[in-house]
Amino acid sequence: MEKHSNINKSFHIQTFGCQMNEHDSETLAGMLEEIGYVENKDKKEAGVAIINTCSVRENADKRFFGILGQLKKVKEDRPDVVVAVCGCMMQQQHIIDTLKEKYPWVDLIFGTHNIHEFPRLLNNVLNERSKVVDIWENGGDIIEGLPAKRMYPFKAFVNIMYGCNNFCTYCIVPFTRGRERSRHPNEIVNEVTELVASGVKEITLLGQNVNSYGNGSDFPVDFADLIYLLNDVEGLERIRFMTSHPKDLSDKLIQAYRDCVKLCNYIHLPVQSGSSEILKRMNRKYTKEDYLLLIKKLKETVPAIAISTDIIVGFPGETEVDFGETLDLVNLVQFDSAFTFLYSIRKGTPAEKYTEQVPEAVKHERFNRLVDLLNEISAKKNKACEGLVLPVLVEGSSKTNAKTLTGRTESGKVTNFKGTPDLVGQIVPVKITEGKTFNLFGEVLP
Ligand code: SAH
Ligand code: SF4
Ligand code: F3S
Repeated sequence: MEKHSNINKSFHIQTFGCQMNEHDSETLAGMLEEIGYVENKDKKEAGVAIINTCSVRENADKRFFGILGQLKKVKEDRPDVVVAVCGCMMQQQHIIDTLKEKYPWVDLIFGTHNIHEFPRLLNNVLNERSKVVDIWENGGDIIEGLPAKRMYPFKAFVNIMYGCNNFCTYCIVPFTRGRERSRHPNEIVNEVTELVASGVKEITLLGQNVNSYGNGSDFPVDFADLIYLLNDVEGLERIRFMTSHPKDLSDKLIQAYRDCVKLCNYIHLPVQSGSSEILKRMNRKYTKEDYLLLIKKLKETVPAIAISTDIIVGFPGETEVDFGETLDLVNLVQFDSAFTFLYSIRKGTPAEKYTEQVPEAVKHERFNRLVDLLNEISAKKNKACEGLVLPVLVEGSSKTNAKTLTGRTESGKVTNFKGTPDLVGQIVPVKITEGKTFNLFGEVLP
């Protein structure tokens, strides 16, 4: 008889961090389903409890250790639960040391480069009933053909590349995800074609810097070429991508917005700071003027484009004058939306050693001023949508009201309107009646 025939074959995955991690969790879930596991919404009941971690800022680390604390109680009640931890935090030796020392009851630790090994590692834990730690320093060959349990039937993430070569001085990602590796375009086109055949209408191409897709590879296809290839996939309706680094956003890609009808009129273009001096110390390789020129070209080529960004407040050495440059840039660009972050020291990054850390109180005060300005602009931009009829991909019903549907415009704006659940997964015309700071409201047209 098999040793573990009576085991609880259900799993729960809790995911932190970016779309890359969310998609890794979809792959983990897909692999578990292939070996007969089913999803369990309650981590206290699951046979395998996985935490897929993010390390980009300190809060993420703190939340992880908080959740481990909760799982400790579960492990005490049900010692046969398998507690597995993976993701970006596991690529850092100091985290592994802490886990081994303070959380010896964690059963399985693996990293970002070997998620395809997960079923085998899990089997080792179950058969030996011993702890397994397996972290790869670097990414090996890209593994194709892994299953994925997708979150939505009508939209999907598609990885086009892994890793990052940019080493922005504040950022941990190049250390946790290794060097850039691009998937072969045929693999990507095949995956998208299969997704479309299964009902997917919208894809989001994922990479830490999609603009360097194809660099150093043996195929002659760059990111813009890839967009043209995917634009030809019959039945696909929307193409999005994350994330585009301003330093190598090409004119060819800007032109693709004009030529490819499926490419959504939206770009997430993280600026990080409006001060050229700070950008230099962040190792971003562009100036405020370079960024503004890109925005000008984008707006000229695609007048309806919506632009979002990421901004870090309080990078070491940021003065009030530098911060003023950020506010100035925000005013000039008029972002539709933005993610704002307080600078967070990451162990092992160059900026960790920078001496002029900005006091917390100053960071918070600047952060609040920036968010107020960004919100004012978002509200104005969304108000300007009132009266327009926009196609919305319906994603589900609102969290607070089941009769209210929610979806996204091509420009990525969350739109709420009354409707029946049969519209979920469809692209429908919605007349915008009200534009607020974070959402649009409207009425579906017959
Ligand atoms: N590869 C993407 C995003 C990576 S992380 C890019 O280059 O845009 C997402 C965002 O987290 C970054 O854009 C940055 O704004 C923020 N971030 C990264 N490291 C940070 C840190 N140490 N402190 C605060 N914010 C950080
Ligand atoms: Fe981090 Fe910079 Fe790479 Fe983005 S481009 S993942 S911010 S190092
Ligand atoms: Fe976090 Fe890793 Fe993504 S550090 S932001 S999960 S690449």
